[in-house]
Amino acid sequence: MISIDDIAAFCRRRGFVYPNSEIYGGLAGIFDYGPVGVELKNNIKKEWWKFHVQSREDTVGIDGSIISHPKIWKASGHSDSFEDIMVEDSKTKELFRADLLVEEFLKESMDGKTREELWKLIQQHKIKSHKGNELSKPKGFNLMFSTDVGPKNPIKAYLRPETAQLIFTNFKLITENSRLKLPFGIAQIGKAFRNEIAARNFLFRCREFEQMEIEYFTKPKETKCKFINEVEDYKLKIYSAEMQEKGSPEIEMTIKQALSKKIFKNEWHAYWLATEHKWFISLGINKDNLRIRQHNRKELAHYSSDCWDLEYKFPFGFKEVEGIADRSDYDLKQHIEHSKKDLSLFDDELKQKIVPYVVAEPSLGVDRAFLIFLFEAYEYNKERENVVLKLHPKLSPIKVGIFPLVKNKPQIVKKAREVYDFLKNEFVCDYDDSGSIGRRYSRQDEIGTFLGCTIDFETLKDKSVTLRDRDTTKQIRVKIDELKEIIKKLINEEIKFEKAGKLIK
Ligand code: GLY
Repeated sequence: MISIDDIAAFCRRRGFVYPNSEIYGGLAGIFDYGPVGVELKNNIKKEWWKFHVQSREDTVGIDGSIISHPKIWKASGHSDSFEDIMVEDSKTKELFRADLLVEEFLKESMDGKTREELWKLIQQHKIKSHKGNELSKPKGFNLMFSTDVGPKNPIKAYLRPETAQLIFTNFKLITENSRLKLPFGIAQIGKAFRNEIAARNFLFRCREFEQMEIEYFTKPKETKCKFINEVEDYKLKIYSAEMQEKGSPEIEMTIKQALSKKIFKNEWHAYWLATEHKWFISLGINKDNLRIRQHNRKELAHYSSDCWDLEYKFPFGFKEVEGIADRSDYDLKQHIEHSKKDLSLFDDELKQKIVPYVVAEPSLGVDRAFLIFLFEAYEYNKERENVVLKLHPKLSPIKVGIFPLVKNKPQIVKKAREVYDFLKNEFVCDYDDSGSIGRRYSRQDEIGTFLGCTIDFETLKDKSVTLRDRDTTKQIRVKIDELKEIIKKLINEEIKFEKAGKLIK
């Protein structure tokens, strides 16, 4: 697998992701997306939204603001509890995230360790800073960014550290507007900000990032999921808190088996873990590289009573891509108490007001998803002597590269322009006439362009073009009239490439 530094260099070179403020020396943990990166990122968000919101009757979406009132974060507990533990190099005054430093030294996970436990380990193992100096006693560091709102007597507001809270604060209006009946989900995609002590590993841990989140609400303490039969036979690698404690490895089993062993407390949690796993698989992630891992009790966030992470096997080990927490009625109750507003719903069956439970909160980082789709797709092809980015066609930044075979024949150029104009409103296309056809193919392979479409002398006679498949380099001849339909079916994996036209190579 390519290393994280090499993928970062590749992203910069090919226009996926740039280090922010590079011409001024850079700003750690903040990145800008380039011309093909923004297309890939938008495709990930579009697929997520289609799958989780538009194709579900029980889910609606919102788009909340980034800057929000400080009282939201007091109520949510983030002002008081949203912190990481840091230690200081006693000589250089450099700051480190304590758990990561100890983890690096002891080569074991420090997830959930308290300040006191980390301090004990630092003393016991005589752990020093990277410069070899003594470390200070660990202390807390709140991760929220603040800003001033208004010119006079400004309010100290916060940039949201998670999108979720805007769902809770708008809960009453959303449920009324959308006539939602439990169980239901409210989803959101948007930026979030965390002033990480140790922003590192490229897009894995950023200070400015984007989340795709759903708060899925049920009646209080409901454990039966009405969709469970959709996932019962679904198999995935499960790594429960108990397995971790016993030092045993993860086990592949079906959701049904895990439920019968009481590994999940709740069918809803199992349903959402399987559903999220399926979404990644449907877009090309290899099953072997995914597992779900339960948080141990000490690792749980302040609002959570149970949490599982969907983890991906990064070059630096299995790490979280998506967290799926049970938040119970913690957040709605906190906002009821702090705002003194009624955020309950009337339940027609129970004939009383209830405060719904968030039985599962699938919370996924767009940037981490972007990174794992790149890791899966990246392949250096020795024969072709170039990188081939085998992205799922739905995610490919550019669907079709349009190539006039030569650029000094006006009829060919005219026809190629016609094909480009014919396709460009339906698919993202790139008109590329610079360099040899081989050079153009490899340039597009490197950015994951799904198909190459070459307009040649034959095209002028028989109104057909050559379509080239990025992954196999196979070529077929297709009539221009049929191009749109065929490309659509290929992107949706409804037909095999070899069957889509006359195979010529
Ligand atoms: N909303 C969960 C998280 O941001 O981690």
